[in-house]
Amino acid sequence: MSKSPYKKDFPIFENSSCIYLDSAATAQRPRQVIDAEREFNERLNANPLRGLYDLSMKATEAYESSREAVASFINAEKSEEIIFTRNATEGLNLLAYSYGLNFLSEEDEILTSVKEHHSNMLPWQMVAKKTGAKLRYLELSEDGSISEEELELKLTDRTRIVALLQVSNVLGSTEPIEKIVKLAHKKGAVVVVDGAQSVPHMKVDVRELDVDFLVFSGHKMMAPLGIGVLYGKKKLLSKMPPFLRGGEMIESVSLGGASFAELPHKFEAGTVNAQGAYGLKAAISYIEGIGFDKIREIEDGLCEMIFDGLSKLPYVHIQGSKDPYKHNGIVSFTIDGVHPHDIASILDGDGIAVRAGHHCAEPLMNYLGVQSTARASLYLYNDEEDVRAFLEKVKNVRRWLGLES
Ligand code: ALA
Repeated sequence: MSKSPYKKDFPIFENSSCIYLDSAATAQRPRQVIDAEREFNERLNANPLRGLYDLSMKATEAYESSREAVASFINAEKSEEIIFTRNATEGLNLLAYSYGLNFLSEEDEILTSVKEHHSNMLPWQMVAKKTGAKLRYLELSEDGSISEEELELKLTDRTRIVALLQVSNVLGSTEPIEKIVKLAHKKGAVVVVDGAQSVPHMKVDVRELDVDFLVFSGHKMMAPLGIGVLYGKKKLLSKMPPFLRGGEMIESVSLGGASFAELPHKFEAGTVNAQGAYGLKAAISYIEGIGFDKIREIEDGLCEMIFDGLSKLPYVHIQGSKDPYKHNGIVSFTIDGVHPHDIASILDGDGIAVRAGHHCAEPLMNYLGVQSTARASLYLYNDEEDVRAFLEKVKNVRRWLGLES
């Protein structure tokens, strides 16, 4: 497939000649999502969950139907287990403030890994500091994975929370969440999964995995910016206190205090992003229309092409597994003698968008022994033409700096 049949769905590719290889940061939006947002603005907009008039009820209906769509997408048992947030980061902070600060003490341990995004590290550092709980880090095997031995070594009878990413935003590797959940549950720990890089690219079934909590961001799966999801098992969410307080999350309020609304509204203080949620519903429907098998096929095929092309350039080094099928379309790389920021700038000069830096995973960079990397990341709208152009232009980077003739 030289040209993607899906590109025509994305107006940005009509308006920009940019070869977009930064979907792990944010994905582009198809017309279907843009149209859904427009429909909300043009036909459904009012403050949801509050008004007793027709338009407000339509806005509420649109919002709640989006919650149902998310529940079905990740196979949650109940739609009240779906909490809308701004993004995965907010979901993780909600868990740290509401679960971590209230249910952990200095006898307890939190287990995470050195390869987490800062969003799944800083909130737990805060919980450890405030509660006295011990924060432990899983280290990596040579290929960047977390071994079962390492997990068994660090999981103890004191572990209360295991907080892990499913797919690394730097290495692209996938963690065996189902196995991890089984081991963690045996110790009585709850498992928090950062699905920011997995949910857009693979079927994530919360009941099959038996995860306790899952967070993800809409904008990485072609939904609008500013809408995210926290899934939690009802029995856990029910016992957690609210994270933010204010409008619409209460049952009643007096000058002396308040009692709080039922799930999910207890965790959705203030006017909600119903337009974003409605866009997320459209993104889910777009993804389901294509199917994860097809998405995997596209990303794996293109990733293989990138690996083949880069392997011919001895000065390029790919981080993580040598197997392109283990990268979920994410390729972080360095070029000898060139700072990754220069790689990104030079490629940008040629109309190619890649991300460069520490990718909000500084401890992982230290672990890998690099200061930063450049990263190309794929999604279903990329095609062979994009990859060919990328490979051609990567060859120019060292030439541009006079390091290659
Ligand atoms: N978390 C996003 C990334 O890895 C922003 O690029």
